[in-house]
Amino acid sequence: MASYSDRRHLDGRNIVITGANGGIGRALCRRVRAEGATITAIDRAGDPQDPIWAELEAVFIALDVGQSRDAIADAVAEIESVEGLVNVAAVEANTNFPDFEDEEFARVLNINTRGPLHLMQTLRPRMGEGASIVNIITMDALLVLRTTAKSSALYAASKAALAMLTKELASELGPDGIRVNGVAPGLTDTPMSSIMPDERRQWIVGRTALGRIGQPEDIANASAYLLSDAARFITGQIVPVDGGMGAAIFGPPELAFEP
Ligand SMILES: NC(=O)c1ccc[n+]([C@@H]2O[C@H](COP(=O)([O-])OP(=O)(O)OC[C@H]3O[C@@H](n4cnc5c(N)ncnc54)[C@H](O)[C@@H]3O)[C@@H](O)[C@H]2O)c1
Repeated sequence: MASYSDRRHLDGRNIVITGANGGIGRALCRRVRAEGATITAIDRAGDPQDPIWAELEAVFIALDVGQSRDAIADAVAEIESVEGLVNVAAVEANTNFPDFEDEEFARVLNINTRGPLHLMQTLRPRMGEGASIVNIITMDALLVLRTTAKSSALYAASKAALAMLTKELASELGPDGIRVNGVAPGLTDTPMSSIMPDERRQWIVGRTALGRIGQPEDIANASAYLLSDAARFITGQIVPVDGGMGAAIFGPPELAFEP
């Protein structure tokens, strides 16, 4: 019998991936392609002629997911059927509480929350039984980690809204055999996290059970699993993929004592 690792779990399925040109997005494209899927890659940045899209036999659509629902519908009109959708594209806020302006809140919500919602709405009629949606959330939506001077408030709120949308839509689409889950990465080694000073990075590593930050492939692996039928009885869940950072509160060594 084929083991989990040697099966092509996504053979013949079309998987739509936003943020496909980023660190996690590219790793996910490679992973689902290796599992036999065809890919519709969406990103606002990136060159449709980039050799990666030919290598992966992917269709690349240049699209800002923070635009109106009509603009999104136009951009994805050619996609015929969708067996999987992964909403990866997101941005962090540029300003701190209490200084942010309404425009900044709107920008972050448009991209991180409304974008995934618009794609789920638009593509829903093209999904049948067995389809799977994965929304990339963040551990910042599940717990507060005060490690940066920069406020995560807007970013965390936009992703927490996406987490609850994930659960709500799982209950709405479950009767039609469509699953909706979230993956919540901890700190992951991508362009988005590259601005974090090394000292902060090490502080997080010291509070992570597995003693390292995530690689994009770690998030891609969990997402590909949720896309596949191996996860056919899992829906409405937000799965932390953080090396155990969110699983414990780590105290300073001087508080340790012999029982
Ligand atoms: N890297 C981390 O530490 C980390 C931690 C937790 C969650 N995440 C989440 O993982 C996901 C991927 O992040 P990443 O680390 O790969 O970041 P990244 O910056 O490498 O990739 C993000 C991609 O999204 C694209 N994008 C941004 N705004 C867009 C828009 N309006 N329309 C279309 N595309 C847009 C960017 O062009 C980029 O290619 C995000 O949802 C992020 O919130 C990342």
